[in-house]
Amino acid sequence: MTNEQYYTLIQPYNDAMDLILTRLNILNHQVYDNDETQPIHSITNRIKEKESIERKLESREYQPSVHNAKTQLHDIAGIRVICYFEHDIRELARCLKKQSDLIIITEKDYISSPKPNGYRSYHLIIGVPTYYMDGMEYYPVEIQFRTISMDFWAAMEHRICYKSQPFNEIEMKNAFRQYSDILEKMEKSFEVYSENAAEI
Ligand code: GTP
Ligand code: MG
Repeated sequence: MTNEQYYTLIQPYNDAMDLILTRLNILNHQVYDNDETQPIHSITNRIKEKESIERKLESREYQPSVHNAKTQLHDIAGIRVICYFEHDIRELARCLKKQSDLIIITEKDYISSPKPNGYRSYHLIIGVPTYYMDGMEYYPVEIQFRTISMDFWAAMEHRICYKSQPFNEIEMKNAFRQYSDILEKMEKSFEVYSENAAEI
């Protein structure tokens, strides 16, 4: 893939991602009646780098072509939405899924069913309609919804477990699973305080 092909490839993904970012910002102001309570803590987004697209295709034994990038990858455009509580994630996702021009390509609920390592997050791949002079095509945008505590865990796990082979692997894997449970409990107890505070 040449640089020029890459920039042409990512343009509609960028447009699709911008559309979803705008929708999320609107929902952030609208889902709760109360102006002071917003579901979103922060949002990050990225378009996958050319080298990263090529590496992922090659690791799956595909030629690193534009065609394969479009047909095999669903995470060229990625958004990470960090919320306060699980309830915020459910509300946001419910509202976004109701928007009738968007299609749901895949949904993975690692909150209801965490991964064996303790990873928790709610992933949606949404198809966003992009219009041209002569037609319309859906472009996928991957959205990862996490709470602050889920994101803290995932960032640490990514840094510690993906990068290197730790020498005390079994012990560490057990610790990560335990920390995932501890963080969930901590978040739930903050949520109780938050609900009580809202009643005053
Ligand atoms: P990818 O090939 O990585 O895109 O995974 P997938 O197609 O099986 O999709 P999945 O929804 O499981 O994961 C998508 C993304 O979620 C990953 O690229 C990571 O950003 C994140 N993710 C999934 N599992 C883990 C995990 O165990 N730890 C961390 N830190 N992140 C994860
Ligand atoms: Mg991915």
